[in-house]
Formats: sequence, C-alpha cells, structure tokens
Amino acid sequence: MKNDSSKPIGIFDSGLGGLTVLKEIRNLLPDESLIYFGDSGRAPYGTKSFETVRAYTKEDISFLLSKGVKAVVVACNTAAACAGRELLDSFGVPVVEVIGAGSEAAVKVTTSGKIGVIGTTATIKSGVYERAVKALLPDCGFYAKACPLFVPLVEEGWWDDEITCSVAKRYLSDIGDIDTLILGCTHYPYLEKVIGDVTGGKVKLVNSAKAVAAKLDTILERDGLKNKNANAVTEYYTSDSVEKFASLGELFLGELGGDVFRADTEAFS
Ligand code: DGL
Repeated sequence: MKNDSSKPIGIFDSGLGGLTVLKEIRNLLPDESLIYFGDSGRAPYGTKSFETVRAYTKEDISFLLSKGVKAVVVACNTAAACAGRELLDSFGVPVVEVIGAGSEAAVKVTTSGKIGVIGTTATIKSGVYERAVKALLPDCGFYAKACPLFVPLVEEGWWDDEITCSVAKRYLSDIGDIDTLILGCTHYPYLEKVIGDVTGGKVKLVNSAKAVAAKLDTILERDGLKNKNANAVTEYYTSDSVEKFASLGELFLGELGGDVFRADTEAFS
C-alpha cells in the first residue's frame, strides 16, 4: 500500500526517556502528528540481552505499524544498538534511529578526531557507536563508557544534583582528551549541565535526540512524506500504568499535549 504524508510518525522507546526525542521532533516538525509508544512494562532495556531487546524492538515497531504510522523513529539507543540496520529496513516504512544520526553529528562536530560515547551497558557492550563513528572517520580516537546509574537518577528528577555530579565524576574520570561526547542514551540530555560541569566545558556534547530529528526531517523530505496540514495531534501509549506515564511524562516534557492510553499488547507480533 502507498505510504501517505498525512499519517502520523511513530516513535518508540523502552519507556519515557524517548520523550527527549519526541520533544526535538515536535520542535522541528510541528505539523506532524505523533504516536509515541513507551514500553515501560518491559523496561529497562539497557540491562537485558541482545536477543531479548531485538525481539522487543520487532514487537514495538509492529505495534506502531498497527496504528498506521508512515515512518518510525527508534528513540531508544539500546533498541537501535541491538536491532541492526537489516531488521530496521524490513518493515516497509522508513525507520530512523538515533545511533546513525548521533554518530554523523559527532563526526561533523569534532575538530581533534577524538570522540566518545556514553550509554547503557547493552549499548556500550554492542560496540555499535564505535563502528558507526569509525565507518565515517576511520582514524578517530574512541572512548566508550557505560553509565547505568544515570537512567534512574534522571527518572528521580535529580538532573542537577550533587549526587548526580559525583556519579558523573566517577564515570567520566578516564575520559581523556576527547573533544566530542555523544549522549548515547535517551535520558542523558537531561544531564547536559552536570556532564558539562564535570568535563569543564571542554567537551562538545552531541544530543542524539536533536540529531535524529534532523535526520527524520531529511528522510521525510526525500520520500515526499512531509505533512503539509497543520492539524497535528500527539497520542501516547504505554505498556505499563497510564497514570505513572502521565506524571513522569510531565516531569520530562512539562506538558504532554496529548492523551495517554494503555497499549493493547495483544497487537504485539
Ligand atoms: N531508552 C534506553 C536507551 O536509550 C535507556 C533506558 C533503558 O535502559 O531502557 O538506551
């Protein structure tokens, strides 16, 4: 069936962190309707095995397709790291993911050719960011660090807190002389200030959420899928409690600007 520019864009994440991506997409593409799926019932993904996260990713994308989306954004770095391009290209609609977009942005920003990434344990273990960056800049120096405590600290709302600062100091003590650091996890844009303070403002931080929004814009334009009618609506689906999604969602976004529904996970498969 022919794709249609008036259809919504689907965005998914393991939970609420992907709202950082939704926010950037809404800023850049205010005329697009959005359907966000947060798989909070099965989160976190970052501590799970490659096979489990890959299976979840297939189901998350199928769920969004069942809602009639014209394109899918994989907001979750861990899902993108485990899925791989071949799987993402198999759904019949454009699928844009954070890792390619973040790596391209980092390569544009670096001047020293020394780039780093921080993310969940699964993302860092996959080595996907390093491969993506080195495919674009083969001789670059590369630093990678898993920072698993950052996700719960962000969900607690401790974005600019001395405990978060101590944790960041400990994680980033061996950062070396990189000049660019990719925030390779949905939650980390909330820690830009703390990470900036810890790195003494000497390291440029690449927000993958901004990078993926820009990439989506390019792809919609390329495929003639940009919505020209400004009646945009946003709907949220969660595989866990609607109330919990709504309250944490407001902490993340300020205002959700759309209704939250319980995802009918029967539609998974
Ligand atoms: N959304 C995940 C990511 O970007 C972080 C949270 C989780 O571990 O599920 O990697």
